[in-house]
Amino acid sequence: MCGIVGIVGNQAVSERLVDALKRLEYRGYDSAGVATIHAGVLERRRAEGKLVNLETRLREEPLAGTIGIAHTRWATHGAPTERNAHPHFTDGVAVVHNGIIENFSELKDELIAGGAKFETQTDTEVVAHLLAKFRRDGLGRREAMHAMLKRVTGAYALAVLFQDDPSTIMAARNGPPLAIGHGKGEMFLGSDAIALSPFTNEITYLVDGDWAVIGVNGAHIFDLTGNAVDRPRQISMAAAYMIDKGNHRHFMEKEIYEQPEVISHALGHYIDFAENRVKAATGAIDFAGVPSLAISACGTAYLAGLVGKYWFERYARLPVEIDVASEFRYREIPLSAQSAALFISQSGETADTLASLRYCKDHGLKIGAVVNTRESTIARESDAVFPILAGPEIGVASTKAFTCQLAVLAALSIGAGRARGTVSADEEQALVRHLTEMPRIMGQVLNAIQPKIEMLSRELSKCRDVLYLGRGTSFPLAMEGALKLKEISYIHAEGYAAGELKHGPIALIDENMPVIVIAPHDRFYEKTVSNMQEVAARGGRIILITDEKGAAASKLETMATIVLPNVDEIIAPMIFSLPIQLLAYHTAVFMGTDVDQPRNLAKSVTVE
Ligand code: F6R
Repeated sequence: MCGIVGIVGNQAVSERLVDALKRLEYRGYDSAGVATIHAGVLERRRAEGKLVNLETRLREEPLAGTIGIAHTRWATHGAPTERNAHPHFTDGVAVVHNGIIENFSELKDELIAGGAKFETQTDTEVVAHLLAKFRRDGLGRREAMHAMLKRVTGAYALAVLFQDDPSTIMAARNGPPLAIGHGKGEMFLGSDAIALSPFTNEITYLVDGDWAVIGVNGAHIFDLTGNAVDRPRQISMAAAYMIDKGNHRHFMEKEIYEQPEVISHALGHYIDFAENRVKAATGAIDFAGVPSLAISACGTAYLAGLVGKYWFERYARLPVEIDVASEFRYREIPLSAQSAALFISQSGETADTLASLRYCKDHGLKIGAVVNTRESTIARESDAVFPILAGPEIGVASTKAFTCQLAVLAALSIGAGRARGTVSADEEQALVRHLTEMPRIMGQVLNAIQPKIEMLSRELSKCRDVLYLGRGTSFPLAMEGALKLKEISYIHAEGYAAGELKHGPIALIDENMPVIVIAPHDRFYEKTVSNMQEVAARGGRIILITDEKGAAASKLETMATIVLPNVDEIIAPMIFSLPIQLLAYHTAVFMGTDVDQPRNLAKSVTVE
């Protein structure tokens, strides 16, 4: 993870670098730093913790200079202290890095044997030392950069300043994304186009193995063999996005309430509302012809994929192999080259998901990307891109991206069913009508449940553990509810298939642990009620999230019942996502945690 930026320009850069870092804080917020060159001197300011600390530092001790690089960190190697914060300095070389230098340990030993003195526990510092060593050996700046890149292995997006060249930033990419921004008499570098959007919308993405020499008038890009390469310049849409909280206390709250709007936007891309049909545009993916589908993703995106599995199997009769990407990439799954694979990622940059994608590509599968960031690496490396159109999601805990991923997967599975002859035209129309109603119902639900959820959240905030249960598509939702609660409130929570309760977790049930049961009145309802009875019989306290029919049918005494409107099974996962998101949100607010930037997390996970 980590975010990096650079500016080589004609006016002071340090404040603008920090502004750009603010747009990258979702990539990590353990510490931050800036380095500039002014009057021939390379200088830096660094601070532990959030960017505001760096801003304070810079107010106390400003940094002049029209060239600079900056970094916001998500610690991998070395604690999140000021000492370990980037930029790392050695002998007139400054380096910021996103990724992991895998062979840093052997390089460090070698450099120490050669007399180098290391100041930090980071892997990155070897880059600065290697560059300094190659310069001492007599190499020019470019030659030193090229020689360093030949020695390091692993994942990196790098930006480098040499004190003896106050007009050039050097950059390199292998893995994590890196974008060069073209300005007027100024050039920019950033981990994504959003960071650069206040400065320019003309972007060149480096590809893996590229490195670049960037001056005020442009960039020269080379591949790993040292040959000059041409990379296209594109117009980024990132600037079109407004990134503020509006009237909300947190981005997460804003993003929860945006869902009716963004889902309707997403649906518009996949649905022909006049005909009540799914638009047939699946590009390179021929759902009618594939024998099976592989799905891989991480975290919340994986849980969206798990719901998708139920849909593709039910509506398209298409067998789905799904796993979290960190397992998928190493499982040596036998895959058929005739199959297709879908990779789901809000950021489009998650390292494990990208590696799974490449694994499938190597095995000849057609690749589809369900992404929020159309300019991301995962999108660029896919044969077909299915945008979720959620707009920028800033809260680290995913909310609107999750429901938009679900909406897209629902539309794709119905479309696949039509293409495979397993969904009739009438069934398609009926399902699409339900999808079309969804934004309106979401709006109603968000308005209706808020007061009750707030009351309940006060109770939840006093608990140490919470169990979530569900069956069918409510099972992944139970896991999503637990994930959301634990990541922002730090309350321990588990999501289980309701039928699994008696195979272990039932031992945990007592009056101190609320059990949140997600039970729409669907074909699983009666079975889930039996599981609730098992909980009640053991003194467990149940919070039932159900619909009107489910509430009317339930005879059980609950700690609370949240009643949603009756909806069709195809839209239930999106509608039932709302109470679990709000529960997590309000519980975290009661607990006073940092809702948008929970501890230890980052929004874009570009390391393994
Ligand atoms: C949880 C959350 C994470 C992400 C996961 C994958 O709220 O946001 O679990 O879903 O890190 O990220 P993307 O979707 O960017 O690949």
